[in-house]
Amino acid sequence: MSFKISVPASGHEFTAEENETVLDAALRQGVGLPYGCRNGACGKCSGEVLAGQTKYDTDALRALAKKEHEAGKTLFCQACAISDLEIKVREIVKSGDIEIKTLPCRVEKMSLLTHDVMMLQLKLPETERLQFMAGQYLEFLLKDGKRRAFSIANAPHDDAYIELHIRHVPDGQFGDFVFDGLKEKALMRIEGPLGSYFLREDSNRPIILMGGGTGFAPLKGMLEHAFYINLDRPIHLFCGVRAKRDLYMDEMVQQWLKQCPNLKYTAVLSDPLEEDNWQGETGLVHESVVKHYPDLSGFDVYLSGPPPMVKAGMDLFYEKGLPETQIYSDSFEYSDDALKAMGIQKPKTET
Ligand code: FES
Repeated sequence: MSFKISVPASGHEFTAEENETVLDAALRQGVGLPYGCRNGACGKCSGEVLAGQTKYDTDALRALAKKEHEAGKTLFCQACAISDLEIKVREIVKSGDIEIKTLPCRVEKMSLLTHDVMMLQLKLPETERLQFMAGQYLEFLLKDGKRRAFSIANAPHDDAYIELHIRHVPDGQFGDFVFDGLKEKALMRIEGPLGSYFLREDSNRPIILMGGGTGFAPLKGMLEHAFYINLDRPIHLFCGVRAKRDLYMDEMVQQWLKQCPNLKYTAVLSDPLEEDNWQGETGLVHESVVKHYPDLSGFDVYLSGPPPMVKAGMDLFYEKGLPETQIYSDSFEYSDDALKAMGIQKPKTET
């Protein structure tokens, strides 16, 4: 049995299954309700039920959430509908609506994805969850006062851990630290979510996602979110790397292709090795995009990766008719040496 839930203030409607919390149902259908812990502790998910009834165990609520409940509010991370509902709640429609938090975290797992990319899975304290939009980033707050930014590679609904992909680049002190010094169970501090690079759901246009190297990370989060909310717009993912050994999580993308008829995938190698025996596309990934789509005026395009790649892509895409309002980018900062080691030349216009 399912129930209809309406938010009259925004006109949004979604359905909740029996025993599914209102928050889970909303997020599953792409309606952004606020939350902080998803386990009845923080009170951040509270709102009002204007009509209809919910059930939940109020004894399980902790102090802040209990206070909200006692003030007549409903905790939507706990409440399940037992009838159709009309609710009043502050909705998250843009990144600025989400509270930026500074949180401690533990490095739960480290796994090498390829020869120079490490995946970190971070665990937050039991009473905290990081609410974010698919594609946003966070910053590590380091002991010396410096900060290091990394895109969040998982989707917002799948937030038991925060996944990051960290590339070991020459002269990259944080990369050296991650590859040579960091150990599982280490404690760190993060701030997030940050940035306005996230999947826009209020559009009907087909989507092009273009990532260079670990620029794949935010795109992975966007794709997993798109699958979760059953986004049925055509999506074409382009991944640009130097050689085959730099292409990571390729098997997972191949798996997605079997399950998602609206997804296309093109991997582009800029400098394949002989032993790669590469039969796919070669060259620069942004040039590959315009070979497939000479007129970009009807697309939403997302680009993430090293700055020269993002800049070259934006310049070319504007030439191909892409309006400024349909392009979203996240440009990772690397040193010149690091770019050289990745086989990336700065575009001439920058010199
Ligand atoms: S999200 Fe923290 S109490 Fe609901």
